[in-house]
Amino acid sequence: MNIVNVDYDGLIPNNVGLNSDPRVKAALEKWHPGYINWWHDMGPEGFQQAIVYLRTAVSVDPKGWAKFDYVRMPEYKWGILLAPQVEDRKIAFGAHKGQPVWQEVPGEYRAMLRRLIVIQGDTEPASVEQQRYLGKTAPSLYDLRNLFQVNVEEGRHLWAMVYLLHKYFGAEGREEAEELLIRRSGDADTPRMLGAFNEETPDWLSFFMFTFFTDRDGKMQLEALAQSGFDPLSRTTRFMLTEEAHHMFVGETGVGRVIDRTCSEMKKAGIDDPNNLTAIRKLGVIDLPTIQRKLNLHYSLTLDLFGNEISTNAANAFHSGMKGRFHEDKLSDDHKLESGHYPVLRCLNGKIVNEDAPALSALNMRLRDDYTKECVGGVERWNKIIEKYGISFRLTLPHVAFHRHIGEFAKVKTDPTGTIISEAEWEKRRDEFLPSNSDREYIESLMKPEREPGKFASWISPPKVGIDNKPGDFEYVKLAG
Ligand SMILES: [Fe+2]
Ligand SMILES: [Fe+2]
Repeated sequence: MNIVNVDYDGLIPNNVGLNSDPRVKAALEKWHPGYINWWHDMGPEGFQQAIVYLRTAVSVDPKGWAKFDYVRMPEYKWGILLAPQVEDRKIAFGAHKGQPVWQEVPGEYRAMLRRLIVIQGDTEPASVEQQRYLGKTAPSLYDLRNLFQVNVEEGRHLWAMVYLLHKYFGAEGREEAEELLIRRSGDADTPRMLGAFNEETPDWLSFFMFTFFTDRDGKMQLEALAQSGFDPLSRTTRFMLTEEAHHMFVGETGVGRVIDRTCSEMKKAGIDDPNNLTAIRKLGVIDLPTIQRKLNLHYSLTLDLFGNEISTNAANAFHSGMKGRFHEDKLSDDHKLESGHYPVLRCLNGKIVNEDAPALSALNMRLRDDYTKECVGGVERWNKIIEKYGISFRLTLPHVAFHRHIGEFAKVKTDPTGTIISEAEWEKRRDEFLPSNSDREYIESLMKPEREPGKFASWISPPKVGIDNKPGDFEYVKLAG
């Protein structure tokens, strides 16, 4: 079995030697039709027959793993791809630090590990469900193709987690895999497991914000799982990370192109005041204050995904060697965290204060801080675009206490700077902070599809380069009929 190249002969492409594992092969083949049904029911609405220029993994070699070709999405080669095994890999952190990594599930951590895999797995189909209507309003064929690329890869990420469930968790794993196809984003009775994955993604600015902020949470979780002492989990998440990078690229460049269009149209029309919404909206672009409000919404919803600041689950996952820290292998401490401390923002007696907490209990907070650092970098790159046009406006991340539903700050209301305000003031000023109904209506009014190759909707600039270096007027999606 060549681990680098993917075997495309059977029903399920893989580089895990599925042919010599008849039990798991049979279980996955049984799961397959349910997956395809789910894709037809919940995947991109109205585009199942379209022919899309997609990349498919042909190897797991970081250099050149992708092959680009036209494919109908239901025929996409979803498969099971693990990064190559690292020889003599040792557990890098926690109580078992220094011991060889596990190739089988350690009995005492079985329940915890299954839960980590199911939670990660649940987010993957959820985002496809959230994005299923966006194709109808894509601002260009380039963007339409990127949406579909993200969608098929999230589908593949579900496969990645389902493989682990089938291979290592027996009947319980198969049951969890079934349930991953039953829960639905936003469903009143069977919702997805995490809040942000039950929200709507109603328009393309939301999509770009989602792929910038929420896919980046996905990246951070995958980075932490890539450190896992359970080697199959580490290997599968390492390969998922190579796909994830494109999702965040779509988000960052998407928002950047929206900003670029807004600023360039403002300049052309001689409008300097970014708050002159009436004049700016007449240009058919999205004003910067509305972009800020969308950012406030998506950043705050995503912070909730990191869970409670102080968490025994997170401590246990680390101590057991199941889930590490971001770049664990590059950190220089004892990797056990039995005695250290970490500063945690808390809400005590109506005040926001910084308090040292035991490092082991503060791991969610730490991952969230690492996440925020990355977000700051992206926001600064967006600000560079605004600066380039000489418009005096800066986008900023809201304070971590703003608009939270989980953790320390769920019990208070703050403005985006983190100043605690009363419920009444929050109600009064809510539309300053978060997208208002009229913002939403305005954005919706712009969401008209642009289907001619090389053309873009009024509110977004073209990308600097095409996918796979294709020219500007390349037909990324051939629509059926
Ligand atoms: Fe994913
Ligand atoms: Fe993603």
